[in-house]
Amino acid sequence: MHFLPFRFSLALLFCLGTGYAVGEHADPQYFGTTLDDKTLETIEATLFMLSTNPKKRAAFNTTTRNRTVLCKTCHGEDGKAVKPMTPNLAAQNADYLVDQLRKFRSRQRYDFWMTSLSQGFSDEEIINIAIWYSLKPEVSSATGDRNLIPKGQKIFQEHCSKCHRKDGKGNKGYARLAGQQADYIVKVLKAFRDRSGHRTNPWMTAVALRLSEKDMQAVASYISHLK
Ligand code: HEC
Ligand code: HEC
Repeated sequence: MHFLPFRFSLALLFCLGTGYAVGEHADPQYFGTTLDDKTLETIEATLFMLSTNPKKRAAFNTTTRNRTVLCKTCHGEDGKAVKPMTPNLAAQNADYLVDQLRKFRSRQRYDFWMTSLSQGFSDEEIINIAIWYSLKPEVSSATGDRNLIPKGQKIFQEHCSKCHRKDGKGNKGYARLAGQQADYIVKVLKAFRDRSGHRTNPWMTAVALRLSEKDMQAVASYISHLK
């Protein structure tokens, strides 16, 4: 991996892809999600309501539990994935989850099941489901190859921590990676790299293009053991 050209090409992609001025790249909050202010405010307001109003929280829990019955088959009872190549949703950042569910719904992100399932979701349901999972306790998958962890740690701290945070829990709006299944991380990195239409994001494509197959396995093994 070449550090300088990497930084340079990433910065270039930022400018081309978004029209943001170079100076703004120092603040990763600009790039976390594509959500509008109104949606971000609704998420904040719902979280506040849940933390202050036990009666409304009970009603929210019942409604959202019913809405997520089907999701358990793959994402597990409490958001810890029970299928391979499937993400944990527990403790994932709510803003990121809202963004992704909307992307599935608008087919900007494609997965056979997720794109189909999300067609029936309203904006309000998406926000509630996202918050429901974001409030579940953190989980760790601890999969991948233990021997590759030191190599993975180095790659992660140099090339991922700026946006996904040093502990892998993600800056505001960014994906939490800590504890994900290693095979899921590798699948996602390849999807960004190959620009197959399953996932689209210029920053992640720039990052993934710099990683060899072994680098991907290593960084995924490290991430998977974080909690
Ligand atoms: C048949 C299995 C299956 C079912 C059922 C399912 N999912 Fe998924 N889900 C997946 C897979 C596989 C992915 C990863 C897709 C990809 O590779 O892009 C995913 C991805 C997601 C993501 C993106 C998470 C991330 O880290 O980017 C969210 C959010 C999500 N699912 C929510 C749900 C919800 C809510 C339900 C129930 C309404 C549900 N899923 C039902 C298999 C499933
Ligand atoms: C410049 C910021 C930035 C850097 C650096 C970065 N990422 Fe990301 N990453 C993002 C953004 C933004 C997304 C959400 C993309 C989307 O909307 O699909 C993302 C999404 C992801 C996802 C999908 C998470 C999920 O739950 O599906 C994985 C995995 C990931 N990044 C891994 C990495 C790894 C590994 C590195 C370092 C080698 C890295 N990222 C470096 C910004 C970054």
